[in-house]
Amino acid sequence: MWTCPVCQQPLSGCSVLQCDNGHSFDRAREGYVNLLPANKKRSLEPGDNATMIAARRRVHETGVYQPLAESMATLLADTAALGAGPLLDLGCGEGYYAGYLAEHFPAVSILGVDMAKSAVRLAAKRYPGVEFAVASAFAVPLAAGSVGGVVSVFAPAAHEELQRVLPAGGVYLKVTPAPMHLWSLREALYASPRPHAEEAVLVPGFSLASTNTVSFTLSADQALLADIVTMTPFAYRGQREKRLLLLQRKSAQLEMMFTLSLLIRE
Ligand SMILES: C[S@@+](CC[C@H](N)C(=O)[O-])C[C@H]1O[C@@H](n2cnc3c(N)ncnc32)[C@H](O)[C@@H]1O
Ligand SMILES: [Zn+2]
Repeated sequence: MWTCPVCQQPLSGCSVLQCDNGHSFDRAREGYVNLLPANKKRSLEPGDNATMIAARRRVHETGVYQPLAESMATLLADTAALGAGPLLDLGCGEGYYAGYLAEHFPAVSILGVDMAKSAVRLAAKRYPGVEFAVASAFAVPLAAGSVGGVVSVFAPAAHEELQRVLPAGGVYLKVTPAPMHLWSLREALYASPRPHAEEAVLVPGFSLASTNTVSFTLSADQALLADIVTMTPFAYRGQREKRLLLLQRKSAQLEMMFTLSLLIRE
């Protein structure tokens, strides 16, 4: 299923994955495979760092993002993506959404890709039913037209790679923060807060099938609030003094607002 990141030929094997040109990649103890060539790494620790990943795992463990995962599954269930091949979670982080989809759609093969090795390691440990690889969303180690659907949750994706891996009729579900997502954190951190810019979802070669919003209020205690700040760019943005004050709050009511854009490959 995975392809060689050096020569793009199919990889086969179990504990060692190999292509016909003799490039080989060991499967890690946790079950994932590292397909990010060392010379393609732009830093020692590409992608999210371990502190952000650990915070994201703790937040997901509380279940507060379940309404989003449920809405994603409901949208996907109504599409042709599920019968058409594996479902790829691109920029899967510590695997929460890939794991949720695997549990929800046991007959569908679920794949997860992230550039951060520590995220993929945690993901593979927790969700053995999902196939994970360390790789970049800008060079997805999968053959052309080989997946039924791609989901991308708050993660980067390259248009060329979406166009390549999805066949006609393939589905791309992109989740972005809606403009007022976590507005009260912005108010607490910035002198003149502004809403999130609405991200462009148009991808050449795809048509927009639907746009849905998921929104709910989250009552966060102090620990959850700290983890949400840590797993987002709020960890280092805004004014430091304001951030320290925010982290002293015993609780907060947070606006959770997401845009789910469903696109179909033409
Ligand atoms: C905000 S996190 C979201 C993670 C996950 N989708 C979730 O919602 O829990 C963004 C993720 O994208 C990954 N990432 C960043 N650049 C990437 C790239 N070029 N290729 C693959 N993953 C990337 C990061 O390592 C990080 O795990
Ligand atoms: Zn090769």
